[in-house]
Amino acid sequence: MLEKITNKETSIAVIGLGYVGLPLALEFARKFRVVGFDINAERVQMMTRSEDPSRELSASAFEGCDIHFTDQIDELSQCSFYVVAVPTPIDKHNTPDLRPLFGASRTVGKVLSEGDIVVYESTVYPGCTEEDCLPILEEESGLVAGTDFHYGYSPERINPGDAEHTVCTILKVVSGDTPASAEIIESVYASIITAGVYRASSVKVAEAAKVIENSQRDLNIAFMNELSMIFDRMDIDTKGVIEAAATKWNFLKFSPGLVGGHCIGVDPYYLTYKAQKIGYIPEVILSGRRINDGIPAFIAKRLIQLLVKSDFGLKDAKVLVRGITFKENVSDIRNSKVADLVNELESFGLTVDIVDPHADPHEVKEEYGIVLSDRPMGEYVATIVAVAHNEYTSHSPQELCDVVKNGGVFMDIKGIYDGAPQGYTYWRM
Ligand SMILES: NC(=O)c1ccc[n+]([C@@H]2O[C@H](COP(=O)([O-])OP(=O)(O)OC[C@H]3O[C@@H](n4cnc5c(N)ncnc54)[C@H](O)[C@@H]3O)[C@@H](O)[C@H]2O)c1
Repeated sequence: MLEKITNKETSIAVIGLGYVGLPLALEFARKFRVVGFDINAERVQMMTRSEDPSRELSASAFEGCDIHFTDQIDELSQCSFYVVAVPTPIDKHNTPDLRPLFGASRTVGKVLSEGDIVVYESTVYPGCTEEDCLPILEEESGLVAGTDFHYGYSPERINPGDAEHTVCTILKVVSGDTPASAEIIESVYASIITAGVYRASSVKVAEAAKVIENSQRDLNIAFMNELSMIFDRMDIDTKGVIEAAATKWNFLKFSPGLVGGHCIGVDPYYLTYKAQKIGYIPEVILSGRRINDGIPAFIAKRLIQLLVKSDFGLKDAKVLVRGITFKENVSDIRNSKVADLVNELESFGLTVDIVDPHADPHEVKEEYGIVLSDRPMGEYVATIVAVAHNEYTSHSPQELCDVVKNGGVFMDIKGIYDGAPQGYTYWRM
């Protein structure tokens, strides 16, 4: 198979061209012939014009790539190595929404031929590939998994907005249903991943490894958030505590804060869903999730307390929130906990203006019904720096408080600064 791919006698297909799929497809396309498939025709048109709809890659990333973008299923039939990288979100009950994954499996099943290989990259719970996706591939293709066609799982670990850790520079876990398929999958990925590949012992092991990476991070942050809520009551500065504790060689240094985005706050629910399905209540993982999901309400309550203490009436009071993306210096607003914070503040009757130099105002309006302001307007009783965009870290607290009434509150969620200007109340987690 590798020889045929290398000689361009066959193509690699990447299904789902978002944050994960597009960079991977382009890397493959520097060496091999690639068909990039996405159901979103508008996104396909943009990529055909060398534009990344996720705004992570510049036009130069498309240069020298042998890739054809399409939303037409029949154009996939020339491929024999399929990579599925569609979203795996959760619904409003925190249950996995597998519709994109099943849709992509139906697409691949329709064009699958004997001898082909299908690799899933989407983050799932252990068992999802074999128990839930394979039956769809088999039903659509009329072929038998493990004999007529083979499959594997290779999770993605990219970190949007991080120029150092990119597709090729992160060690990649791969797996296959048989030693022979694992060998092929390993060699295909090894030809583009400079950091090397690690072969997991089974597809389930690879699936589980991915989902625990993000669950561990979620739990570590939940611990810091819990500490922050305890120390806040005792008037102890949590950042100072963590810095002191981190002088011990085996202390794990994490920071408290909002846990949003499409990975850390979502993936643990895939694991807890599966655990509960097989009769185990994952108390530690779920309590970490509960703590992290409760942080917007905690911050909102603290701001109200500080405003009341500062003798500001809440009626007609305006608050300025800086940053709505799920993390610094990216435009991704999915699962933004800042949006939850805004809702909490508004539930107390406060008027909230939100600015963000990275977020797309149309996306924010569509996703959250929130209208972004293009700049601060008027005077505020408080400002909250919610996201550590470079545009904020490069400013002093004094500059950020220029629009805040004297005696107002300066909330520094990310612990970027070391205090507020004279006459203002400073608070951080
Ligand atoms: N974004 C990250 O940083 C990151 C990191 C590691 C792992 N992951 C995982 O990778 C997977 C993909 O995430 P993403 O952030 O790239 O998603 P995304 O939302 O950026 O992109 C998904 C793309 O898939 C397309 N799509 C949806 N359903 C489809 C279907 N049935 N057929 C074809 N295309 C379809 C969408 O139109 C979109 O272009 C998820 O499981 C995610 O958890 C993401």
